[in-house]
Amino acid sequence: MQASHFLCTKHPVCVPNLAHRCSKPPFSTVRFRQPPSISAVAAPPPLLKPQKTHSMPPEKAEVFKSLENWATQNVLPLLKPVDKCWQPQDFLPDPTLSKADFMDQIEALRDRTAGLPDDYFVVLVGDMITEEALPTYQTMINTLDGVKDETGASSSPWALWTRAWTAEENRHGDLLKTYLYLSGRVDMTMIERTDPGTENNPYLGYVYTSFQERATFISHGNTARLAKERGDHVLARICGSIASDEKRHENAYARIVEKLLEVDPTGGMIAISDLMKKKITMPAHLMSDGRDPRLFEHFSAVAQRLGVYTAHDYADILEFLIQRWGLEKMEGLTSEGRSAQEFVCGLAPRIRKLQELADKRAKKMKPHGVKFSWIFNKEITL
Ligand SMILES: [Fe+2]
Ligand SMILES: [Fe+2]
Repeated sequence: MQASHFLCTKHPVCVPNLAHRCSKPPFSTVRFRQPPSISAVAAPPPLLKPQKTHSMPPEKAEVFKSLENWATQNVLPLLKPVDKCWQPQDFLPDPTLSKADFMDQIEALRDRTAGLPDDYFVVLVGDMITEEALPTYQTMINTLDGVKDETGASSSPWALWTRAWTAEENRHGDLLKTYLYLSGRVDMTMIERTDPGTENNPYLGYVYTSFQERATFISHGNTARLAKERGDHVLARICGSIASDEKRHENAYARIVEKLLEVDPTGGMIAISDLMKKKITMPAHLMSDGRDPRLFEHFSAVAQRLGVYTAHDYADILEFLIQRWGLEKMEGLTSEGRSAQEFVCGLAPRIRKLQELADKRAKKMKPHGVKFSWIFNKEITL
């Protein structure tokens, strides 16, 4: 693809989307490689992925520079001091106990997880892989001028936030993985072979992370509820503690977008609209275990059926953010900004309608079995 210069107001990653010189091809040339879809969870890997590289314009870097004090006062307080953070070991069998006591704790863990069904483990494994994919986003965030961590130890509030956020996401993946390992219910080799998949995400930005953090908050909240119903109160506390971290993360990212909308309402609105047109996919949507080419789609179908994360949640998140950011009442937009506003604010009912049709179609389909390598190739009926 030819790299030439455009006056860019189109790239969601360039929140706040101030008009700037951008060396990317116009967003519209890559946006509709495939027909846009509204499915919340099922996202087959794109057939052709043009390489998206990016060079951030100086104007945008300046916006973030000018918001550093604001971020120190409004974003960093959402980080917990390290000594107040939970650690995976708080929830796991204690290896410093005597061998017999340690073994007792492992046995108790196995007794608790024995009450959980196989499909629950499919969802928990998928959630864990999603958590493990998140820290790789640090690399991508650090390509963004204005917020990147210049040295790996930068004291800018953007870099401080990103490092601490990554550490928290790491803990989520570590804890879920260790718990799954000790349960004996899953095939660790196949899980470890599963590649979460990475892409140079063209719309990784604070709008995307606001959405994604709320999605993980909902999903971990639901796995907590199900674990509690099935008698594993430790796993319920694990998923609940992770969910509460996600809530804090969501709050931080949503606050940043709120501020960016204040600084540049039209640019922010267009960024949100572009993002929603492309559809939000979860960080691990390109996951692959080398066996099932539709792994993410199948995992999503199980999550949908268990009610852990559904297409209705997708519409709920959108409605929640529209309200939180006051998008419906936002004034002072250019005509392009107003049409973006109209699109975003009318989207949730459309998503719900399409989902109802999809639900009806799904009900007419015959149930079929799908094998998951993560649970020793056992079959789950979808
Ligand atoms: Fe997380
Ligand atoms: Fe998070």
